[in-house]
Amino acid sequence: MVMASLALAMAGHAWPEEPAFVGNKACTGCHKAEALDWQRSAHAKAFDLLAAGRKPAEKLKGKLEPEKNYQKDEKCFKCHTTGYKKPGGFQDVETTPDLVGIGCEMCHGPGKEYREIHKRMVLEFKRSEVQAAGQTYATLGDKVCQNCHDHKDSPLKKELDPKYGFDLEDKMRKARTAFHRITPSIGRHQ
Ligand code: HEC
Ligand code: HEC
Ligand code: HEC
Ligand code: HEC
Repeated sequence: MVMASLALAMAGHAWPEEPAFVGNKACTGCHKAEALDWQRSAHAKAFDLLAAGRKPAEKLKGKLEPEKNYQKDEKCFKCHTTGYKKPGGFQDVETTPDLVGIGCEMCHGPGKEYREIHKRMVLEFKRSEVQAAGQTYATLGDKVCQNCHDHKDSPLKKELDPKYGFDLEDKMRKARTAFHRITPSIGRHQ
């Protein structure tokens, strides 16, 4: 139980009950439309950007080495994989293939607990309830995108190119190709 002891080790910090990551397959069975869009999306493929030879001009601009294989460099994993160094999260491509790239849970929160609420309550759950179980909402004010975008640890900063800046409203217009189309929920979750 490596993960359980990791969770315990982290328990002394701010989130004593931080839920675990469970991977995309724990979501996609119930959310097929989002899953289909996501598979083709920029976030799903974000780990590919770390391969040698990809985006050489952009890497040079960010003082990175175009021919280096950054898929082995853990400095990049926090923002190009799902849940790195967190309970249940990405370890390496072989051990955790379902957590390669930026999965559902990097925007919606680690899913172990709130997915059970979706399952049990279906159209009846309240957002306050799932938020207490770790679900996050970028469009309701949770700063989830900013864990990666316009973040001080990213080698590609807006000082190098204004396109690396982040404005939620503007970026949400590209939702369809960046992650998935947004469709109104059927349930009343207020
Ligand atoms: C703090 C989060 C963060 C870290 C750490 C990070 N990245 Fe990224 N990276 C991003 C974000 C966000 C984008 C998308 C930027 C955009 O298009 O606005 C990105 C985009 C990229 C791109 C594509 C740029 C383009 O213009 O198409 C490359 C290449 C890249 N990252 C390489 C790396 C490498 C290599 C590392 C490790 C040395 C790394 N990143 C670490 C957040 C991060
Ligand atoms: C890059 C961020 C991002 C990723 C990755 C992502 N989503 Fe979303 N998703 C959003 C945002 C933003 C919303 C609007 C609601 C909110 O603010 O959370 C949303 C809304 C939803 C909704 C509500 C209905 C709808 O379509 O608007 C579902 C269901 C959903 N996402 C499922 C998924 C699943 C399943 C995955 C993985 C296959 C996924 N999402 C990946 C950002 C993301
Ligand atoms: C775990 C880190 C991470 C999170 C969280 C994240 N992104 Fe990204 N985002 C990236 C990376 C890395 C890329 C680069 C993908 C590429 O260029 O192929 C990217 C690319 C994009 C792009 C396409 C490039 C562009 O700038 O036009 C959009 C749009 C975008 N993200 C919006 C969002 C929104 C909105 C959210 C929050 C709901 C979000 N992202 C959350 C890391 C992240
Ligand atoms: C057993 C089926 C099931 C599983 C598994 C599941 N969900 Fe859901 N989810 C639902 C249902 C049902 C709703 C409510 C749909 C509606 O109201 O239209 C929902 C709603 C959502 C919403 C919108 C919430 C809102 O307030 O509008 C998001 C985002 C979401 N799920 C993401 C996920 C993610 C991410 C996972 C995996 C960690 C996941 N779900 C796992 C069934 C499921």
